[in-house]
Amino acid sequence: MINIAVFCSGYGSNFQAIADAARENFFKGRITIMVCDNKDAFALERAKKEGIPTLLALRENFKTREDFENKIIRELDNQEIGLVCLAGFMRILTPEFIERYKDRVINVHPSLLPSFKGTSGIKDAFEYAVKITGVTVHFVTQELDSGPIILQEPVKIESTDTEKTLEEKIHAVEHRLYPEAIKLFCEGKLKIKGKKVYGY
Ligand code: GAR
Repeated sequence: MINIAVFCSGYGSNFQAIADAARENFFKGRITIMVCDNKDAFALERAKKEGIPTLLALRENFKTREDFENKIIRELDNQEIGLVCLAGFMRILTPEFIERYKDRVINVHPSLLPSFKGTSGIKDAFEYAVKITGVTVHFVTQELDSGPIILQEPVKIESTDTEKTLEEKIHAVEHRLYPEAIKLFCEGKLKIKGKKVYGY
């Protein structure tokens, strides 16, 4: 069993999908903590309902980014966390954090990377009016939204789509793809060589 920490900042629908999958034993891992950097996040309510402990770490309560992250690291180390899942966590982690959990931090992004990096991948793809966008689950490296890709799935943008319907389609794919990637990780099936993820 791998101990998983899920990091959230907002609504937490991906956290919910991961929690549902964990409850159904879809992968060999358990969520032992949710780390949240926003006291108003609905994700906190979800964790409470699931009986999953939360660490509410508010950046404004710490002098430096390092102090903020050290608080989180201490908790993760205590719990022997084997996998960190960023799920709508809207904060960039320091190189030190990424190095400490090297090859053990993954993220879901609402576009086909390397297109539409950043915090508004769905809106940006919709406004660009691409015909195909999608979802990416990838390892996190020091370079933003650029780590080795684990899984990707396309989503078509139809002429009848609005930003809202596109968002719904993207989220539905995220909620399926993220648990699949976690399953592969927990089974030890993900090997990384340079930019490439192989072994499954
Ligand atoms: C998700 O769509 C996720 O892909 C995106 O934030 C949303 C969080 O939703 N993440 C990023 O854009 C990261 N750059 P959720 O809180 O309902 O899981």
